[in-house]
Amino acid sequence: MRVAVTGANGMLGGEAVAQLAGRHEVLALGLGPGRPPEGEYRWLEADLGDGQAVERALLEFGAQAVLHAGAVTDVDGCEREPDVAWRVNAGGTQQVARACRALGARLVAVSTDYVFDGAAGPYGEDDVPNPRGVYARSKLAGEWAALSIAPDCAVARVAVVYSGRATARPTFATQVVEKLSRGEPVKAFVDQSTSTTLAASGAAMCLELLLESGYRGVLHVSDETVLDRADFARRVARRFGLQGEIVPVRTADVKLLAPRPLRGGLRVERAKGMLRNRPLGIEEALARFHVEWGRRVAA
Ligand SMILES: NC(=O)c1ccc[n+]([C@@H]2O[C@H](COP(=O)([O-])OP(=O)(O)OC[C@H]3O[C@@H](n4cnc5c(N)ncnc54)[C@H](OP(=O)(O)O)[C@@H]3O)[C@@H](O)[C@H]2O)c1
Repeated sequence: MRVAVTGANGMLGGEAVAQLAGRHEVLALGLGPGRPPEGEYRWLEADLGDGQAVERALLEFGAQAVLHAGAVTDVDGCEREPDVAWRVNAGGTQQVARACRALGARLVAVSTDYVFDGAAGPYGEDDVPNPRGVYARSKLAGEWAALSIAPDCAVARVAVVYSGRATARPTFATQVVEKLSRGEPVKAFVDQSTSTTLAASGAAMCLELLLESGYRGVLHVSDETVLDRADFARRVARRFGLQGEIVPVRTADVKLLAPRPLRGGLRVERAKGMLRNRPLGIEEALARFHVEWGRRVAA
C-alpha cells in the first residue's frame, strides 16, 4: 500500500515511518534537517505552510493512506507567531485533506488534548472542545478541516508525546533523564494533570487506525494513565534509577505565553475497546522508554 506520513522528522511521524518502512511503500514528508530513523522509505521536503506543496506531493505519490502528524507543536511559539501556526496547523491540514479527498485516500490526522480547556478532564471523545490559545485553536480548526473535507477520516488525539529514540527531539521526559543524570534539579508542575504518549505507542495506534480500522471521527490514542508532571518526573527517575531533586512548581508562578490545561488528560476507553495496540499504562510506557534510551546511549 502507498502510505504517506507528514511530520516524518517528528517524534510521532518518525516512529510511524520506522514502523511502516519495509512493509509498505512509504513517502516521508518533512521540512527541517532532521530525518526519521533509517529504513526503506522515500523522503521528500514539503512545507505544510505554503498552501500547496504537501497536497501536490501526496497527489503525485498517489497516496492510499495518509498519517498527518506534521504540525507546529511549540505552544508558546504559536502565540509569538500565530500566522505560522494557522497556516501550518489549519491550512496544512486542509491541504492534506483535499489531497485525500481527491485520491479517495484514508486519512488519520493527529491532534491534541489541548482542544479542551482543562477545567474538568480527563476528557472523552464526545466532550465538547473549548480551546485556549493559538496552538489549541489552530489544531481544532485542523480537526474540523480534516473531518469535513476528507470523507474517510479519523482524528487521533494524543497528549504530551515523548520518545527515547536518538532522532527524537528533546522533551520534558528526556530533560528529566539528562538533568538528573548530571545531578541537576528538575522543575515540574504539580498542578497540570495530563495524559502522556510514548511516540512508539501512539504511532502504533494511529497506524492501526489508519490501515486496519474503518473508524471515522475522533479517537483518543494517548497512553492510559493521567498524572501530573511532577509525578511523571518521579516515575521517570525511579525507572532510570536516578536520584535527585524534583522541584514542585505551580503554573500560576511561571510566565508562560500560552494557557495550559490544568485538569486535562484523555480518556481512552474507546481505543482500548477497539484497537489491538492498546494504550499503555505509565509503567509499561516508561519501561519501553527506558529500552529506547538504552539503545540511544549504546549507539
Ligand atoms: N508533542 C506533543 O507533546 C504533542 C501533544 C499533543 C499532540 N501533539 C500532536 O501530535 C502530532 C505529532 O507531533 P510530535 O509530537 O511528533 O511533534 P514534533 O516532534 O514537533 O513533530 C512535528 C513535526 O511537524 C513538522 N512541521 C512543522 N512545521 C512544518 C511545516 N511548515 N511543514 C512541514 N512540516 C512541518 C516538523 O517538521 P521538521 O522537523 O521537518 O521541521 C516536526 O518534525 C502533531 O499533530 C501534534 O500537534 C503533540
